[in-house]
Amino acid sequence: MIEHEKVKKVLYGGDYNPEQWPEEIWEEDMRLFALAGIDVVTLNVFSWAALQKDEVTYDFSKLDKIMEFVKKNGIKVCLATSTAAHPAWMARKYPDILRTDNMGIKRKFGARHNSCPNSPTYRKYSVALADKLSRRYKDYDNIVSWHISNEYGGECYCENCEKAFRVWLRKKYGTIEELNRVWNTSFWGHTFYDWEDVVLPDLRSEEFSWDGVQRTNFQGISLDYKRFNSDSILDCFKLERDAVKKNTPNIPVTTNLMGCYQPLDYQKWGKEMDFVSWDSYPEFGSDYSYNAMCHDVMRGLKQGKTFALMEQTPSVSNWHAYCALKRPGVMRLLSYQAMAHGGDTVMFFQMRRSIGACEKYHGAVIDHVGTEHTRVFKEISALGKELKDLGDKTLGGRTPAKAAIVFDWDNWWAAGLSAGPSNAIDYLGEVHQYYRTLLNMHISVDMIGVEDSLSDYKLVIAPMLYMCKDGFDEKVRSFVKEGGTFVTTYFSGYVEDHDLVITGGYPGRLRDILGIWVEESDALPLEKTGAEHAFHYENEIYPAEILCDLLHLEGAESLGEYEDDFYAGMPAVTVNAFGKGKAYYVATRSSEEFYGNLFDRIVKEQGIEPVVTGDFETCIEATVRENEKGSFLFLLNHGDGVDSVTLKQGGTDLLSGWEYEAGTMVSLEAKGVALIQLKDK
Ligand code: GLA
Ligand code: ZN
Repeated sequence: MIEHEKVKKVLYGGDYNPEQWPEEIWEEDMRLFALAGIDVVTLNVFSWAALQKDEVTYDFSKLDKIMEFVKKNGIKVCLATSTAAHPAWMARKYPDILRTDNMGIKRKFGARHNSCPNSPTYRKYSVALADKLSRRYKDYDNIVSWHISNEYGGECYCENCEKAFRVWLRKKYGTIEELNRVWNTSFWGHTFYDWEDVVLPDLRSEEFSWDGVQRTNFQGISLDYKRFNSDSILDCFKLERDAVKKNTPNIPVTTNLMGCYQPLDYQKWGKEMDFVSWDSYPEFGSDYSYNAMCHDVMRGLKQGKTFALMEQTPSVSNWHAYCALKRPGVMRLLSYQAMAHGGDTVMFFQMRRSIGACEKYHGAVIDHVGTEHTRVFKEISALGKELKDLGDKTLGGRTPAKAAIVFDWDNWWAAGLSAGPSNAIDYLGEVHQYYRTLLNMHISVDMIGVEDSLSDYKLVIAPMLYMCKDGFDEKVRSFVKEGGTFVTTYFSGYVEDHDLVITGGYPGRLRDILGIWVEESDALPLEKTGAEHAFHYENEIYPAEILCDLLHLEGAESLGEYEDDFYAGMPAVTVNAFGKGKAYYVATRSSEEFYGNLFDRIVKEQGIEPVVTGDFETCIEATVRENEKGSFLFLLNHGDGVDSVTLKQGGTDLLSGWEYEAGTMVSLEAKGVALIQLKDK
């Protein structure tokens, strides 16, 4: 869809379900779409039951009508394959399609996103449907993208998955001896003699629930299951993708992802998709930097290529505990936030509010009242006009980032599965803490995986790099030797790819780069915060939370020491000169003020420039995108009052038409947006 010759502007639209409505309504939909500036719809997301009533009978007559109707009205289509909810007859006749949960309970027909990824029935019929749809609609030149299935996710613990797990393991490890080695099965007498001995790690085997958290006795097994489950579901995507590609090689293929969604290793998924798209549903009052980070994670899946905002709600999300309305201006603000981070579409769920089942109180472009006279519709139309006027200016724009944060699914899984050192270990939270610091400083960040190149960056932060995979330390070593700055934290470098500890002193493979040895780590109970443990750094005292490493300098310099307990005086923040670069270590979790001060120093040392100048406390988010047409500065005021930042370069606000000189202070009203085309690129 994006980077596609058929697209000349930010596409605007969303999930449209005309099959839920009598045909008389369709014309009215078109009138309203035209008023709102809608030019793309996602069709056919949940129509499998309507399209296929038994093994051999397909009926495309309704979809044919819809496709013709939409085309006639000049609207582009993101065509879904409908395979995210299997038909009831299929579940009745082929129970292998049903998932089994982690308690071993086989699910019945119900809900959606409910098919076992290793079910031969699911694979056979989902691929057949994708094939038929792509044959049938291949000549529709208004199709801008395939939308395979919908929000893939979840887990299955059925017998088919168990068998497939053994095959996956065999392919990965070759011999049972190697499997026993990587899982360290001499522990608790787990030696496996035969592949058939292996069972899935669920609540009937290795896993258990404690304090409401799912835990495991064997990290290696549970970690491999997570990898296997993500791969199994990815295989379903690939099978359908290949089916549609065969018939329509020029239509790009995507599936809608869900931001920082733990069960699927999206970095692996990104490689298989033509472009990334995702559904963004921030909760009311949530920290805007988290949604910003999710956008950047999504952009990172394809090394900075633009992505599609496939879904957002125009107003409320029915599944949030409290359906708070998006305040006036917020839908527009969040739409520009997606664009600010690399999005080239703005799309909604849903176009017309349905009348039955669980999404009837979910926000929509057209509300139950059915007219254009609603606040939400008016805001949507106003944005539709702005996007039309903006045209193709920002399309394809890239983010010129000199700083990167490493975000790795294996680390997220492994740190989460770990038994010890603390229930408060929170990989995503740790990553977000560092991201938020740079966002508040108005520094552009790329969220990268461990396989991505580090060479474009001056600063690479790998928060909680618990698992330092084969080869990654070598990459970091060369990066720092060449003059880069590397930052990592407590609970890093402990294990290799299979969650086996790297002996010889923490942080294992990173020890020489960081110039430290971590001898012990003290886990502080949650209720004990910085009030009891603290460290000093540059004449200020900051809280030390979650974990305090007790470390020794092996060449590094201490920048601040603990204040309390028997380890008072030991280093809490260190820096090591290594080759032409530096490696920082933060031995504990601290406050925003601390990270602000630390990174102030680091970005200055590296000459990394913020995109605007402004106070750290401002609620204005600022990002830049660049394409062959120019450089575009997005300013987004997430706050509830007027706020301002100072421009480093002059330019024209494409939304208001105002001209600004370099050095001008730009003020934005609450929820206000400016999109400034900068004078010099
Ligand atoms: C998801 C789904 C949609 C819809 C929305 C509601 O993103 O993909 O089908 O259920 O949630 O928020
Ligand atoms: Zn299964």
